[in-house]
Amino acid sequence: MTEKKISNWSSPIAFLIASIGSAIGLGNLWKFPYITLENGGGAFVLVYLLAVLIIGMPILIAELVIGKMGKAGLYQSVKQITSKKFWLVAGLIGTSSCVIVLSYYSVVAGWPLKYFIMSLTGEMANITSANSGKIFGDFVSNPMEIISYHTVIMALTTIFIWGEIKGIERATKVLIPLLGIFIAVIIYNGVTIYGHEKTTQFLFSFDLSTLTPASILEACGHAFFTLSVGFGALVVYSAHLPDNVSLTKYGIIIAIADTFIAICACFMIFPIILGSSIDITESISVLFTSITVQLNTNSLGSYIGGVFYLLIAFAALTSTISLLEVVVAFVNETLKIERKKATLLSAFVIWVLGIFSALSLGGSEFFTKIDFFGKLDWYVSNVALPVCGILISLLAGWIIDKKMITVLHNTNQKLVKTIIFALKYVSPLLVLVVFLYNLKLF
Ligand code: PHE
Repeated sequence: MTEKKISNWSSPIAFLIASIGSAIGLGNLWKFPYITLENGGGAFVLVYLLAVLIIGMPILIAELVIGKMGKAGLYQSVKQITSKKFWLVAGLIGTSSCVIVLSYYSVVAGWPLKYFIMSLTGEMANITSANSGKIFGDFVSNPMEIISYHTVIMALTTIFIWGEIKGIERATKVLIPLLGIFIAVIIYNGVTIYGHEKTTQFLFSFDLSTLTPASILEACGHAFFTLSVGFGALVVYSAHLPDNVSLTKYGIIIAIADTFIAICACFMIFPIILGSSIDITESISVLFTSITVQLNTNSLGSYIGGVFYLLIAFAALTSTISLLEVVVAFVNETLKIERKKATLLSAFVIWVLGIFSALSLGGSEFFTKIDFFGKLDWYVSNVALPVCGILISLLAGWIIDKKMITVLHNTNQKLVKTIIFALKYVSPLLVLVVFLYNLKLF
């Protein structure tokens, strides 16, 4: 057999940083602000926070336990911990979700890279509130350009995965602290110019009448995506942990850090939107239009903007790395293809799939018309993630519940019982409701 065990994290902190890096990504910095805008603010944020706490966090901890017990990627870990073949479905769904998500995530991750280059060439300084939308639209519908950036992101991701756990560590140890510093700078800049009052009010005034079934579902789905839950990403990371670390503690820290950064992202973007007269017609592009305009009001704006976009690309990169690692672990452990070959093969297949998404934003009439990108996103968010989430939850809550108590021996046992209760009943039921409703089955 060609399989080779890859090494462990150099320390639990390295694992923690990499996992936070996996969780923090475009979901926090790009998607959360725009779906919060679309769904009316405070009440939506409240549902999202509850979904993170009640549904996301228990499953996140379950994934860490599964990785710790199985010492492999999701599929092989499940195989190690139960002899019942049925549960392997979770491994297949989780791994294929990583293939699909990485293919379009890499496309979007190329956008901040493009804006970084624009700041270097001086083009960014010419962006105004009048032309920001058009500049963005022209970029995403230019096939050559958008595919090139997608290629760069996939290439960088592959390079880090090539270095295995050490490569992942090297990337995340530098990128995550830098990201934190720059988020703070951008918030400070926006809040001192535009004030924070309107943002605080928008985010924390809970007008329940703004909630609709659709917005509740979106909040629940996003809780999964943003925590990297339902993909096996955290399974593969915790597989390389030494014994005696408190998985519950780490799970809680990952969830808190991820949620904190999502709220920070709103404080980076909303002061500008709510405190100025920027008209946001396309909320999906908000990170690339309003932020650039705001930065340009400052004499150092282009420089700050350059680093800002570079760091968003970095945040995305720490997520693409974890997505690719799941796929490579599967190809290596299950299809028994040597790790380096597995890395190249997985990256190539995902790159090709990504091209179709890249072309569906105006670059190709056919792919735009069938909304290839949107369809993939719909399938993962509405089918794959909920199904995989329910399976992981039930597996942890019903099949390995006793073993979980042993693995989590260094956690307060009352808390462990609560987590297992959530995994047995609460999370699967809530996710099932979301799932059936989304498929319009009731
Ligand atoms: N959590 C990441 C984000 O919010 C996305 C992601 C999902 C990364 C699954 C890895 C695995 O952007």
